[in-house]
Amino acid sequence: MVDVTISEAAERLKAGAVVAFPTETVYGLGADATDPAAVAKIYAAKGRPDFNPLISHISDPAQLDGLVVMDDRARKLAAAFWPGALTLVLPRAPGCPVAPAVSAGLPSLAIRMPAHPLARDLLGRVGRPVAAPSANRSGQVSPTTAQHVRDSLGPDIAVLDGGPCPVGLESTVIGLAGPQATLLRPGGIAAEEIEAVLGAPLGLPQDAKLESPGMLLKHYAPRLPVRLNATAPQQGGSQQGGREGLLAFGPPPAGFAAVYALSAGSDLAEAAARLYAGLHVLDHEPGLTGIAVMPIPARGLGLAINDRLARAARGR
Ligand code: TXA
Ligand code: MG
Repeated sequence: MVDVTISEAAERLKAGAVVAFPTETVYGLGADATDPAAVAKIYAAKGRPDFNPLISHISDPAQLDGLVVMDDRARKLAAAFWPGALTLVLPRAPGCPVAPAVSAGLPSLAIRMPAHPLARDLLGRVGRPVAAPSANRSGQVSPTTAQHVRDSLGPDIAVLDGGPCPVGLESTVIGLAGPQATLLRPGGIAAEEIEAVLGAPLGLPQDAKLESPGMLLKHYAPRLPVRLNATAPQQGGSQQGGREGLLAFGPPPAGFAAVYALSAGSDLAEAAARLYAGLHVLDHEPGLTGIAVMPIPARGLGLAINDRLARAARGR
């Protein structure tokens, strides 16, 4: 197990190595975005397909100069939500120093300024944009603790441990590369809040393959099968050999072999923060044969929670 200090993490990133670090959403697997060899190490460590682009993280809006072409919509959203769980996909600026592999060859670049104090400190020390996808093997559940990172990427991965991630869901990704602002991925900031700042509804991608390649992949999959909208144990229950664990939202129905409370008081932000930890816990609970999930309301952060759960349910 390789726990690194913040100064070691910064030195490693500057030297072209990969380091996992905490953000307020999930742990990221970082590398210097301007170094093609370093970026290649991210794709290799994750087993990530090379057509799925990465987010570049910055600590200071001054770094945007020469990276991307900002417009009024982008400036409004950045002012309202940065630092925070929002990623903006913008046209790459002419002469953009970020390695083309970070954009997976697309003419756009995804940018985020995270709020986590350790992430901000680290990014400030590195002084260059840091490419960072979630720090898990491609297709697995995203990590919200340093232990999750090691469970997924192995004990040799260098991790800056900042404790559990407070938001717990990946950033909301907004496409601003064309005339219509589009919701490319629901996430830690509710779409309604973004629409309120834009003063216009968000569109959905017309061509997901071109606009949001990552969303086509199988994703967020635990080992166990996931059953959605569960209000009672399965018919037959343990007699049929099935021992389901329950992710509970509000008071849990009786009869499940294990219960992990996403939020006892039905709070969506609390449920979002606990979702991946709950999937990890039940997935590693000995003797369970499946994970059932109670219904989650489809508003606010519930949209992002339901998006990840739907992928977990179909993703094996
Ligand atoms: O909260 C987060 O966003 C975390 C933390 C570490 O910042 N990162 C994260 O990265 O979730 P990743 O690689 O797991 O997801 C990035 C998403 C993918 O769906 C990818 O397809 C999309 O952003 N994306 C990145 N660059 C893009 C681009 N140029 N055009 C369209 N989508 C892009
Ligand atoms: Mg990911």
